[in-house]
Amino acid sequence: MAKLGMLGYGTVGQGVADILNRRGEELELLIGEPLQLKKILVRSLDKERKVSVPEGVLTTDPYQILLDEEIDIVIEVTGDLDDSYIFIKKALQNGKHVVTANKAVVSAYFEELSYMAEEKGLHFLYEASAGGGIPFIKPLKDAIRLNKVESIRGILNGTCNFILSKMTNEGLDYSNVLKEAQALGYAEADPSADVEGTDTMRKLRIIGTLALGASISEDDIICDGIDRLSAFDIEKLKDRGYVVKLIGEAREADGGFTAIVQPTAVPLGSSFAGVGGAMNSVCFLGDNSGALTFTGAGAGMLPTANAVLSDVIDCIMDTQSKSSPLRARALQNRNESLKGSYYVRFDGGFGAEVLGKLPLNEIISKNDPVAAITGEIRLDSLLELAAGLDTADYSIVRIEELS
Ligand code: NAP
Ligand code: HSE
Repeated sequence: MAKLGMLGYGTVGQGVADILNRRGEELELLIGEPLQLKKILVRSLDKERKVSVPEGVLTTDPYQILLDEEIDIVIEVTGDLDDSYIFIKKALQNGKHVVTANKAVVSAYFEELSYMAEEKGLHFLYEASAGGGIPFIKPLKDAIRLNKVESIRGILNGTCNFILSKMTNEGLDYSNVLKEAQALGYAEADPSADVEGTDTMRKLRIIGTLALGASISEDDIICDGIDRLSAFDIEKLKDRGYVVKLIGEAREADGGFTAIVQPTAVPLGSSFAGVGGAMNSVCFLGDNSGALTFTGAGAGMLPTANAVLSDVIDCIMDTQSKSSPLRARALQNRNESLKGSYYVRFDGGFGAEVLGKLPLNEIISKNDPVAAITGEIRLDSLLELAAGLDTADYSIVRIEELS
């Protein structure tokens, strides 16, 4: 019997238990032995759970899992950063494969945990950490064996895409839609990680590092979220044939790389424009494979649990490599080369002052708020201008043309 320990029993953890309850027999046929969820770590034993487990399975003591010699695989789905790092290290030290959906911990300790697992001859798998239910990390690891991947970009946060879709299609207010995304289990425990772009930044750190083969740190990534976007912005861009998406992108550029998370106005009719609700979509470009695009559920209980359990099956059947997929190319950060045309909106009566400093394609509104579409401009000079104004109330959205 293969025995699993799971750290966390929230949205994703209960999804894992639910699938195991419903697919136990099929899984047993596939792997040739029964699969048992032996112990599950929670913070509170009294909390009501949607998916019940047998008496005695829940525990508040992580060491009932981490020191249990019968447990071969630890599933980490707490969302916590500091504790999960300690738990994962302890699990690996004790010879257990680790599967996690926790992009915060993978992003923070990607190299250390990958090399530690390799050294111990163990699996460290994180398919659900980026793209939720979309199985694209495994194909990405496959692709980098044969391809030079020049870029990877995508809609990587289900909560943000859900909010932006509702604001675009139904004209709804930002804060009410965020509450809905939380109720549906898409958002992080602290949803500011979603709406401020941090969650997308962490995912980009993971998949950009894999794709480009160079360590792209969190600090390497320029990060803006959707929390400053207003209904006014969405409407004005929609009137001009654009849909706003939060896009993370890492690409080779100028002998180095650029890495950025930013609200982006994509033309109606483009492939990203059609990705609605909590869906995600990721595209990477290999020199042999060409562009490969993966689209599917970016968050949610069952899609995410499905990705987690797919990793668990790979651990049991040994169907992924235990060698670290990371490479150590020395690429310099070239974010200073980022430029483009941007939609800008500034509140607080900065009209003439702002407009006079920008190359302009179109003035959308001259009065408070000031809104315009710039001609080509360097992003760093635009950000410098925004930082120098005495207002926190502004938005910058990159304009993407149909290619
Ligand atoms: P969640 O609903 O907040 O559940 C977290 C669970 O972990 C809870 O059961 C909580 O215990 C437990 N927990 C948290 N911190 C703990 C700690 N320090 N020690 C012990 N137990 C702890 O989170 P989730 O939505 O399932 O997400 C879990 C992870 O998957 C996160 O890293 C998230 O980013 C990632 N993820 C989520 C989704 C999604 O759609 N939700 C998709 C992809 C990836 P209590 O229940 O007792 O409070
Ligand atoms: N909060 C995350 C999202 C969960 O909304 O995308 C999936 O990683």
